[in-house]
Amino acid sequence: MRVVVGVGGGIAAYKVCAVVSALVQRGHEVQVVMTEAATHFVAPLTFAALSGRPVAVEAEAPVEAGPIGHVALAHWADALVVAPAPGELLARLAHGLAHDMLGLVYLGLTGPRLVAPAMEPEMWAHPAIQRAVATLTADGVTWVGPEFGRMASGYQGVGRMAEPEAIVEAFEAVTAPKDLRGLHCLITAGPTWEFFDPVRLLTNPSTGTMGVELAREAVRRGATVDLVHGPRVAVPRLPGLSAWPVVSARDMLARCLERLAAGPAVDVVIAAAAVSDFRPAEPLPHKAHKADVASVWPVEPNPDVVAEVSRRLGPAAVRVGFAAETDGLETSARKKLASKGLDFVVANPVGPDRGFGDAPYQAWWIGPEGPAEALAGDKRSVARAIWDRVRRRWEEKAGTKLPRQ
Ligand code: C5P
Repeated sequence: MRVVVGVGGGIAAYKVCAVVSALVQRGHEVQVVMTEAATHFVAPLTFAALSGRPVAVEAEAPVEAGPIGHVALAHWADALVVAPAPGELLARLAHGLAHDMLGLVYLGLTGPRLVAPAMEPEMWAHPAIQRAVATLTADGVTWVGPEFGRMASGYQGVGRMAEPEAIVEAFEAVTAPKDLRGLHCLITAGPTWEFFDPVRLLTNPSTGTMGVELAREAVRRGATVDLVHGPRVAVPRLPGLSAWPVVSARDMLARCLERLAAGPAVDVVIAAAAVSDFRPAEPLPHKAHKADVASVWPVEPNPDVVAEVSRRLGPAAVRVGFAAETDGLETSARKKLASKGLDFVVANPVGPDRGFGDAPYQAWWIGPEGPAEALAGDKRSVARAIWDRVRRRWEEKAGTKLPRQ
């Protein structure tokens, strides 16, 4: 996507370097436009180096841009991100004042416009600024932040610019096709913890990354998600995403069943959690001592969360499981497909140095027919490919099309 990042004059401008860098790393073409004031905080050369393009500051377009140079950039861009946006800039944009390149791009662009305000709390609260915010909202601007926290002045309040990751996430959400709108999804993620005494447990190295990426992608594309996740999973706060932390496999099942009962009806379940298949049969009430070795190890099977959930869903729901194996991957994945009543299984080879967290990752998409299909890229790209396939399957099963936008 072609993105103009408009940098306003404020100390948070230094954080926008990370925004530009992240957008470039995600494959976007970024053109930075700075207000004159912004150049007092960060040198244009910094943004030029990060984006690989000279930075535009003045309203005067370069001669080579042609006779309509003042709108060439707005026509080139698919989207605009303004960060940081101080109060004066918000007021100016709300009135359509375009004496510099940022103002011109704002007026000339037809795509999404995301704005990250940053100013002292009393300025943000001032009626003049709140009037500008109301006008810009009515004009279709999407906001990210401001957040509550410590200001450069030392005061606390609402006025901090949203963190770079939140700005990038909001950008992805505002520009994503809303082709999953109307779907309600249940996703499981992360490990489970099965205690054999009050302080020791049976678990695995899962971090929940895959489940979280699936949830992110779903809400970006307009779905709502209940994410039931095990311990120590870093869950982002996103509109449309409800997170339900649990500890053990039995907790995970109970929470999933409770979400099913609470409604709305689940259209898609994706079980990405690495649920412990076993739990200690008789957890000790006190910390195990060396002499307790015999009573520590007996285990008993856990309930199968996805199989139980799958049984309770309507016929049109799409059910996806994961199979993480150190050996016999495809055979085991195909067995799970049948025994758990799933539409698809995503199969991953796992080991001490692969499959978990940010370690090298390979995923195979396995359905009831045809050969396994490799899903390329990192967990984020895999999540995108999974949702493309789930959407197609949901449309087939439901016999109806989801709206594309
Ligand atoms: O552990 P297993 O390899 O059987 O996991 C396959 C699939 O079943 C995964 O999608 C996992 O989330 C799910 N599962 C579950 N409850 C279990 C075991 C696995 O939901 N107790």
